Amino acid sequence: MFWRRFSGLLTAAVVASAAQHPLSVQPGVNLGTDRYDAGLFTPFGDLSALSTDEFTILSHPLFPNYNVRIKKSDFCDGTVGTYTGYIDIQARHLFFYFFESRSDPTKDDVVFWTNGGPGCSSSLGLLMELGPCRVTNPENSTFNPYSWNEKANIFFVDQPIGVGFSYAEYGETVSTTPEAAKDIAAFVAIFFEHFSQFKGRGFHMAGESYGGRYIPVFAAEVYDQNAKLVEAGLNPVNLSSVMIGNGCTDWASMVPSYYDMTCSPASVAPIMDISSCVRMKQAVPRCQKALQKSCVDKFDSFSCEAANLFCEAEISAPFFATGYNPYDISKPCDGPISDTLCYPVTKAIGAYLDRPEVRKQIGVDPSVNSNFSSCSDEVNAAFNAADDQMFPTQFYIGALLERGVRALIYVGANDWICNWVGNEHMLLDLEWTGQEAFVAEPLKEWSVDGSAAGLTRSAGPLTFATIYGAGHMVPYDKPAESLELTKRWLAGENL
Ligand SMILES: *[C@@H]1O[C@H](CO)[C@@H](O)[C@H](O)[C@H]1NC(C)=O
Ligand SMILES: *[C@@H]1O[C@H](CO)[C@@H](O)[C@H](O)[C@H]1NC(C)=O
Ligand SMILES: *[C@@H]1O[C@H](CO)[C@@H](O)[C@H](O)[C@H]1NC(C)=O
Repeated sequence: MFWRRFSGLLTAAVVASAAQHPLSVQPGVNLGTDRYDAGLFTPFGDLSALSTDEFTILSHPLFPNYNVRIKKSDFCDGTVGTYTGYIDIQARHLFFYFFESRSDPTKDDVVFWTNGGPGCSSSLGLLMELGPCRVTNPENSTFNPYSWNEKANIFFVDQPIGVGFSYAEYGETVSTTPEAAKDIAAFVAIFFEHFSQFKGRGFHMAGESYGGRYIPVFAAEVYDQNAKLVEAGLNPVNLSSVMIGNGCTDWASMVPSYYDMTCSPASVAPIMDISSCVRMKQAVPRCQKALQKSCVDKFDSFSCEAANLFCEAEISAPFFATGYNPYDISKPCDGPISDTLCYPVTKAIGAYLDRPEVRKQIGVDPSVNSNFSSCSDEVNAAFNAADDQMFPTQFYIGALLERGVRALIYVGANDWICNWVGNEHMLLDLEWTGQEAFVAEPLKEWSVDGSAAGLTRSAGPLTFATIYGAGHMVPYDKPAESLELTKRWLAGENL
């Protein structure tokens, strides 16, 4: 979920300095010097041998600063192998859930999932969207027949540290996507090394919303890390694709799209009065120019903040004043947004995850003793302060495509905040070898069980798809279509 504390999209990016807190220095992956001595390492091997009562701790000589703490349970699904735990990076700890596939865990691909924010927990994706169960009240969960683990082994990771059940012992923070990517890449390498049954399996990195920034950078880190793994005599991770749902990847194509979504019938009929629309239309080029000049071409924190304030006042504030749900403009926000994120079910999920027996079952560290928070204010503010969202992340997608990593960009058509119009413009403008072929393709309808599900355009490794009737969280609004899209994509089929 793309989310900001005061619901002002594109709010202040104030601090220019990349100065790090002394404790936030990355230990990094200690690769590339010596060839790795396979005799020093015995993979854990079979996940099902793990204990349900206590954590098993796994290490790897190639990653001396990292451990994995993992336990087994029957959380959420009940029909498949289910594992939760932490990747421990010295004093920093990332929480994850892992569910085996309901079809064939010994053959199906592996999917990594993260929610966005920055700062929001992947428990939302797990318990509200694409996970094996849905939580709609604080007491229990119900089986989700449309979970993506119908056809894949899947991870949900609370990242970066400070999000969900992830924590740091001395208040260390991560405030940029490239920093977060180092931990994720190490996590991925350690997982495939230990759980050798998954080695070489197709690996897909998926995310939503701010995941449009995270996922391309994370996948690039995994891709580049592969060269080092091979050099050290290990197997590379079989990175097959990135899957981005309602991503905010490129602010420059998203800014003008806010006008289209608010004031044209791009998804629903215009939702704002004409005079406000005319004013917004005039503000868009000024906002773009100011952001480019003060936040991108050169970083001048004072002018960049002024640019953000202008854009917020002229583009996001008029939209928010309409009261529509920024994640689904076919309806009003069931809010206030600061309390529910427009979806009261997020509160039920929080209460469910606050239950002591649930925390015990999944092994939440006792030092995480505060109430569950869907999104972390601190992490969000740190990323904003570091200006992380202003990076033109589509360049990473282009680079991955050039290396044969497939990319699926899917967008629920009623979302405003990371909408389909901006995503389509981004992809049409994206420079890569297949650009001409992609641009030449018409948008055509794709369907599920004979009913139109959305529009799509595809060329080679790149596919764009919209989902009719869905907002920002496609699997929440359109579970059957979302699962079908995922199945076809994982199988390498056309939509
Ligand atoms: C879950 O809880 C709701 C109400 O709290 C109840 O109606 C429902 O039967 C429960 N479901 C299960 C499977 O226990
Ligand atoms: C990588 O995964 C894909 C499935 O996504 C599979 O078709 C391919 O054979 C795998 N490659 C290797 C080298 O195992
Ligand atoms: C946690 O939530 C409970 C129940 O809503 C509330 O009573 C308590 O004050 C909260 N604790 C903190 C530290 O916010």
